[in-house]
Amino acid sequence: GKLAVLLGGRSAEREISLKSGAAVVGAFQRLGIAVEAIDVAEPNWMQRLSGEFRQVFIALHGPGGEDGTVQGALECLDIKYTGSGVMASALAMDKFRCKLLWLGLGLSTPRFVELTATSDWHGIIDDLGPVIVKPACEGSSIGMARAASAGELSDAWQNAQAYGRVFAEQWISGSEYTVAILNDKALPAIKLETDAAFYDFNAKYISDETRYLCPCGLSTAEEQELSDLALAAFTSLGCAGWGRVDVMRDAAGTFYLLEVNTVPGMTDHSLVPMAAKQAGLNFDELVFAILAGSVP
Ligand code: DAL
Ligand code: MG
Repeated sequence: GKLAVLLGGRSAEREISLKSGAAVVGAFQRLGIAVEAIDVAEPNWMQRLSGEFRQVFIALHGPGGEDGTVQGALECLDIKYTGSGVMASALAMDKFRCKLLWLGLGLSTPRFVELTATSDWHGIIDDLGPVIVKPACEGSSIGMARAASAGELSDAWQNAQAYGRVFAEQWISGSEYTVAILNDKALPAIKLETDAAFYDFNAKYISDETRYLCPCGLSTAEEQELSDLALAAFTSLGCAGWGRVDVMRDAAGTFYLLEVNTVPGMTDHSLVPMAAKQAGLNFDELVFAILAGSVP
């Protein structure tokens, strides 16, 4: 059976997925593995896969690809695929529901509240202080904004609404870290430093000013605590194979879970390839390791 890389799709992260997918296709070509790229935005992508393909590398980001829908279709077609299964993919796509689950398990995550048309903007700012407003089910910081007043909060909610359900999360002043997971083990953590207010779309994909520290500068014990938290978050959602867990650390040294990405970016600005490199795996070896770990 042939191997396909699924890319593109219709989410707001389409352009990022096209880059991730092209990089993954390039790796397979260098490895001498025959591969075809299939864009999930094509109406007949399922017919193309059916019968001919035995295995798929999923390089789709965002709703309609990273969220369990494509994974479910592949289950029905009896095709092996990389990364998390249907339930974990769906759950990880919804940051709000992840936080509810982590709260229940006693895993640290910033305080938060869902925003609706009838939210008490003043009350929320009085209670949480400055917040970051996020669509529950988007990636790459799309639709996100910081809000420190009732007016900013309602404006941020207005803008984010285009992407579906929205919540506000307490703003953590401190540092951002990310932990890549490969075949259920944590890779070395990366620290992200940006001069922007937060690690937004521009800082992620466009700016050359964003600084990536790997090794991340934490002590061995601190990095162990971070890795353990990241793995606990990954496991709590039932994730499998590979992924990336984003975490904040406040000035007092407490870590807070932000989210789990089940199909992290694989562009030349992306973080999993950086962490893999630190662990001694080049990009092609990383892609091969993800494929080798795919769900039967
Ligand atoms: N959602 C983007 C692709 C990431 O997490 O890397
Ligand atoms: Mg994400």
